[in-house]
Amino acid sequence: MTTDPTTLPTLLKTALAGFEALWSPRIVTRVNDYDVRIAKVAGDHVWHAHDDTDEFFLVIEGELTIALREAGVEREVTLPQGSVFVVPRGVDHKPSSRTGAALLLFEPTGTLTVGTRHEPVPAHVDATTGHPLT
Ligand code: NI
Repeated sequence: MTTDPTTLPTLLKTALAGFEALWSPRIVTRVNDYDVRIAKVAGDHVWHAHDDTDEFFLVIEGELTIALREAGVEREVTLPQGSVFVVPRGVDHKPSSRTGAALLLFEPTGTLTVGTRHEPVPAHVDATTGHPLT
């Protein structure tokens, strides 16, 4: 089954329409100790790792690529619209999108977008624990 963005629930459509900043997640709601976040992305994020948590991605629109480095071996996963993927804790990863994409992320409240370890953060990447929806 593929997801047509025109069938996205109204809440998500409205939320995505409410901001333009790239790599700067908005917190849609919280579930116990977890945030449900949405983000618009394009181009490259930064190599980083979350030593304390897995990170869940759902591709709402567009296509996302995640480069992964495990035990010195680098690989890429390409995630079309509708895909889900979990980056395990501690694994170096760098999301990117050539097409531009909208994502839903599920991760513990307080999780920093650039992880607990990261390469120098470029100016276009927002190092944040998520912003409230306005
Ligand atoms: Ni991450």
